[in-house]
Parts: sequence; C-alpha cells; structure tokens
Amino acid sequence: MAELSEVGQLLHEEHFRFLVSICGLQNRVGEAFLDRPLDPRNAEERKQLDELIAGLDDIIEHHRFEEANLFPLIREHGDPELVAELIGEHGTIEPKAGRLRAIASALRRNGATAGRWSRFRQATEVLIADMMEHLQKEELCVVQRLSSLLDARTDHELALSRTAQRLSGSPS
Ligand SMILES: [Fe+2]
Ligand SMILES: [Fe+2]
Repeated sequence: MAELSEVGQLLHEEHFRFLVSICGLQNRVGEAFLDRPLDPRNAEERKQLDELIAGLDDIIEHHRFEEANLFPLIREHGDPELVAELIGEHGTIEPKAGRLRAIASALRRNGATAGRWSRFRQATEVLIADMMEHLQKEELCVVQRLSSLLDARTDHELALSRTAQRLSGSPS
C-alpha cells in the first residue's frame, strides 16, 4: 500500500472504524440472532444501540467532510465521473442510514417487537451492502490517491481541520 497522506490516514482510520462496526453489526443480525433482538434493558446491548446510533451520525458527518473538502480536489484533478458516482452513493447510503437510525432509536426507547427486529435486521443488511462497496471504492480511488493530489501544506491543514471537527463533534 502506498504511503497515505495525513488526511488520507485520518479517513482511512474512519473507514476502518465503520468497517469494524459494520462487521459487528452484521454478526449481530445474522441467523443465529433471528429470535434474539437487541434488548435495551440489557446494559451491554443498550450500549451497542447507542454506539450504532452515534456511528450512523458519524457516517453522515464523514460524508459532508469528503464532499466539502476532498471531492472538489478530485473533480479538479480530472475525475468528475468518480466524484459524481461517490456523491450518488452517499445519496443512496444516507436514507438507508437514516432508516436504520430511526428503527434503532425506537428499539432503544421502546424495546423490540418481532416486527421491529425484523425491520432492523433488514435495514442493516441493505445498508451494509452499500457501505462495503462504497468504502472499498473510496479506499482505492480516494484515500490512496490523496498523497499525489495534495501538496504537503494543504494536506496538513485538512488533517488539522478534520481532527478539530472530530474533537468538537464527538462528546463521547
Ligand atoms: Fe464517502
Ligand atoms: Fe469515506
């Protein structure tokens, strides 16, 4: 793997964090848990739901950063088709993330009914499929390319601003 730029490293870490939570979630909604919904009365599972809800908010915020700071650079450097594709994928992922967030919040507040758990599992599956594809594409086509697209100073400034955003945006 080529050496990542500073901001590329931060994005790579964020992608990795999303991937880890996706894999955990994928496991928790698998066949083995068909009749074992996440139960907010259980402290550990309540925490999982809280982390999921916060993680879904992080995905949306991550998209905004990419769209405002990185995609214009890639567009300028001759790949507007890729940017259109990635923005389109954000547009597909976000309503799915919003739907899962709404179901997770209802589950967190009111507990699981059979219908709610089934909707939760379904919403998770559709989101995971889209997220995996998007993360893979960005790792290859954005994160790996940033060191050649950014000069050292711009890279450093973007990394500082991303770090500041993360610190101010995450009270946990
Ligand atoms: Fe993205
Ligand atoms: Fe991303």
